[in-house]
Amino acid sequence: MINIIGQKVLVLDFGSQTTQLIARRVREARVYCEIYPYNISLEKVRAIGPNGIILSGGPASVYDKQAPAVSPELFELGIPILGICYGMQLTTHLLKGKVERSYHREYGPARLSIDDPDDIFYGLARDPVTYQVWMSHGDRIEALPKDFICIAHSETCPVAAMRHRRSPFYGVQFHPEVIHTEIGKDVLANFLFRVCGCQPTWDMYSFLQGATTEIKVKVGSGRLICALSGGVDSTVTALLINRAVGHQLTSIFVNNGLLRKNEAETVLAFLKQLDLKVHYVDAGNRFLSKLGGIEDPEKKRKIIGEEFIRVFEEEARRIGDVHFLAQGTLYPDVIESVSFKGPSSTIKSHHNVGGLPDIMQLELIEPLRELFKDEVRKVAVKLGMPEDLVFRHPFPGPGLAIRILGEVTAERLNVLREADAIVLQIMKSSGWYRKVWQAFAVLLPIRTVGVMGDERTYDNVVAIRVVDSLDAMTADWTRLPSDLLAKISNRIINEVRGVNRVCYDISSKPPATIEWE
Ligand code: XMP
Repeated sequence: MINIIGQKVLVLDFGSQTTQLIARRVREARVYCEIYPYNISLEKVRAIGPNGIILSGGPASVYDKQAPAVSPELFELGIPILGICYGMQLTTHLLKGKVERSYHREYGPARLSIDDPDDIFYGLARDPVTYQVWMSHGDRIEALPKDFICIAHSETCPVAAMRHRRSPFYGVQFHPEVIHTEIGKDVLANFLFRVCGCQPTWDMYSFLQGATTEIKVKVGSGRLICALSGGVDSTVTALLINRAVGHQLTSIFVNNGLLRKNEAETVLAFLKQLDLKVHYVDAGNRFLSKLGGIEDPEKKRKIIGEEFIRVFEEEARRIGDVHFLAQGTLYPDVIESVSFKGPSSTIKSHHNVGGLPDIMQLELIEPLRELFKDEVRKVAVKLGMPEDLVFRHPFPGPGLAIRILGEVTAERLNVLREADAIVLQIMKSSGWYRKVWQAFAVLLPIRTVGVMGDERTYDNVVAIRVVDSLDAMTADWTRLPSDLLAKISNRIINEVRGVNRVCYDISSKPPATIEWE
């Protein structure tokens, strides 16, 4: 994207679980940064001309046969480099120091003593004061590379940090990006501002300016369409484009009949307030008839995905003369497909408008592809989106169809809608909605015996799923207070016809997933 500030830091990914965290911390310090796989070419690094490079951690040992490495010439470009954990060991190995091979890992908190409170440790206290840092490593430094000195140690790690005597090269054995490292922010800020000479100027205002200019340049006088779901990503995408080239954009909102109670009406009302040109398509019956008799989750997803493309394509052709398709792709999706680990294996096929650009020969516009979710939310607020919409929980493209186990019918959809509305209402009124990642109801296609008044009932079961998560990659079930759960259960059983039992899902991801299908 057009980086109007011009400053940028690269994070080279060696496969660490915390690579994304490094990038987030750098951006929190208001310096723009991007993640690249470790094997980025030197030409590309030169072309980007970053102000600094951070080498991430990773699971390998520098002695592994296939150990990921960069060219030693990276250290000849005159760019400041900070190696974290594996990044530090690799620096040592490449610059002819010695890494000691270890067969057990040091994992967890350690006390760091600083021997040289300057540069990356500027403002911190010298030994004997100690700081908590987070370690996660096997190998460690046995002999420093030529011209490097040790600048910090811990009880178990004699070289816990190092620096070059003259060049701006640093290494830390601990992880400054994790919150358990109490001086993590200081170390990264010192590297960015004191060593790399960056200014803390990256914020959502500069993003907005850059993105608006970029959209104008790329789109020219072309026409765009955007698939709007009412979720924060697609709505921000549409709003941004609207701001840049308003009259050239038409947003298409397809109601697939699998939305929550009153969702289409609420979303449309919001969008109207936001002054967007929205083309509404009520395609509920089409989707429902395609789903008739289908029980397999993957088949349901495929049918919904394909039908969506079909409806969308018809509407796009009706609008006519379209050149671009706007999508709310976020940075984690981009990294996932380019990172060291490669695309992760498909556990569930997630539906999006994939395939459409090729069929219709549309060019993709993805203005959010450099942002993390929390950054998108900040942009959303800046663009005047109402809080209710900004902090809505994620909702899957296939909607309630993957929360009704087994066949999706109009009757089941109605039962689930009512139960789900109660869950959301209680989560919101109790103040829990904003504290969790997602909260929803799932309808199970099994019936159990109950008693209501004096009568025997034989009705369905609803499961409640509420999870805490940072990025949906992992999740844990939320420990909701039992009286809140009791309230949810009582109201569902009393108010929703066809349900006589409520369960709470206490599985974490992995091994379960957030959605049930
Ligand atoms: P899982 O169930 O894989 O979900 O743990 C992770 C996150 O992704 C959402 N999700 C989807 N989002 N289309 C989407 O746009 C989909 O098909 C889809 N399936 C799951 C899910 O709600 C959770 O936030």
